[in-house]
Amino acid sequence: MARKDLPTFTVPSLTPEDGAQVAAVLQTRLVALNDLALTLKHIHWNVVGPHFIAVHEMIDPQVDAVRLMVDAIAERIATLGVAPVGTPGALVATRTWDDYSIGRASAIAHLGALDEVYVGVIEDHRKAAKDVEELDDVTNDLLIGHLHELELFHWFVRAHLESAGGSLSTENATTEKGAARAAARKE
Ligand SMILES: [Fe+2]
Repeated sequence: MARKDLPTFTVPSLTPEDGAQVAAVLQTRLVALNDLALTLKHIHWNVVGPHFIAVHEMIDPQVDAVRLMVDAIAERIATLGVAPVGTPGALVATRTWDDYSIGRASAIAHLGALDEVYVGVIEDHRKAAKDVEELDDVTNDLLIGHLHELELFHWFVRAHLESAGGSLSTENATTEKGAARAAARKE
């Protein structure tokens, strides 16, 4: 008898087990990038101070790009024969990190914290790409494509935190709040 947790169909040449495994990896990325898109908008609304407009306007194209990534991930899950879960309750119930911790703050403080956010998202996205490498080239390619953009956006953020000598003001930080404080101190 067919297992109930396996898709009844998946993409040609993958087994239902492989399809389910790839979809499960993608579901974690759906949650992470939906969370990132919401967090970026939160920063867009809460940034204040002399560099307001530069950061406010830098963030929106990142939101648009990340939303497109989420859509592509969800549609790949459906293509694999599995139902993508995109509800807010499921996002909060399944994520493994806390809500973004900073409200109204200076541009440089938010960028310090956003550096930490991007580090987490990119590390997990790279791991997900590796996890599907042997199973599904198409999903691997999708995730690698996202990394091209995510790492570029991360550089946009880090360029604000970088000294002329090439070091980052957030280099010793391990939390969003710590990174925000470190970035603001060097402003
Ligand atoms: Fe806006």
